[in-house]
Amino acid sequence: MVVLQTVGLTKVYGSRSRVVTQALTNFTLEVEQGEFVGIMGPSGSGKTTLLNLIATIDQPTSGKVLIEGVDTSRLKGERLAEFRRRRLGFVFQDFNLLDTLTIGENIALPLVLDRRPAPLIKERVREVAEALRIGEILEKYPHEVSGGQQQRAAAARAIVHRPALLLADEPTGNLDSKAARELMEILTRLNEEHGATILMVTHDPFAASFCRRIVFIRDGQRYNELYRGESRAPFFQRILDVLAMIGGGGRDA
Ligand SMILES: Nc1ncnc2c1ncn2[C@@H]1O[C@H](COP(=O)(O)OP(=O)(O)OP(=O)(O)O)[C@@H](O)[C@H]1O
Ligand SMILES: [Mg+2]
Repeated sequence: MVVLQTVGLTKVYGSRSRVVTQALTNFTLEVEQGEFVGIMGPSGSGKTTLLNLIATIDQPTSGKVLIEGVDTSRLKGERLAEFRRRRLGFVFQDFNLLDTLTIGENIALPLVLDRRPAPLIKERVREVAEALRIGEILEKYPHEVSGGQQQRAAAARAIVHRPALLLADEPTGNLDSKAARELMEILTRLNEEHGATILMVTHDPFAASFCRRIVFIRDGQRYNELYRGESRAPFFQRILDVLAMIGGGGRDA
């Protein structure tokens, strides 16, 4: 089943001023259920623009985004907010846990905002927390747990409501290499063991090497794509080769 489809997606910024940037041109992408896809490309190539359009945070100049077959441009106001809340999950660069809520309350947030029944919330939080081995710290506050535990709590929150699509923009951007590896291992487990469909933007070829497929973007257009198909080390090397060809990328962020 196709979870995400972008059709001829085009974004032009600043149409009313004289400065016009064509950030994305006729970008077409399909992501199947259960895929783990990376988006890579030089700085300014349109990666965040693409993610924001898919996340329904921004609207395309032309083209459309279909999520589970729903044309998101047809949703407005509260229906759009509800769709985003229910069908999408987000992993942010800096976790974004709320300091005044416990780890358990933070994980529960997407379900609470959706006014789901308390017993269901309790069960789902426990299930996902145990899967990520943070079942013992649900009563603690973020400042009382380790960085790695905070990171797992953020990942738990991103999937507790079983979104159709998990979106991540530079999730390893602020992490040291050990924490980056841990986060990528968590995302891999969410993908392989929990069937999460993931779309991740990254500059980091190491993080990207955990994906099953990488779509490269250059000047707002699709450049090419790589499938992993083998173990991570040779895939990492092939990613570096493409980055060397299209320029940028690497660790310049
Ligand atoms: N709100 C905006 N208004 C005007 N131009 C914008 C806006 N956001 C992005 N752009 C421009 O659109 C292009 C694509 O930007 P985008 O942020 O999507 O790139 P990116 O690939 O995410 O870059 P980076 O790797 O640096 O995060 C750039 O030329 C950028 O300057
Ligand atoms: Mg960006």
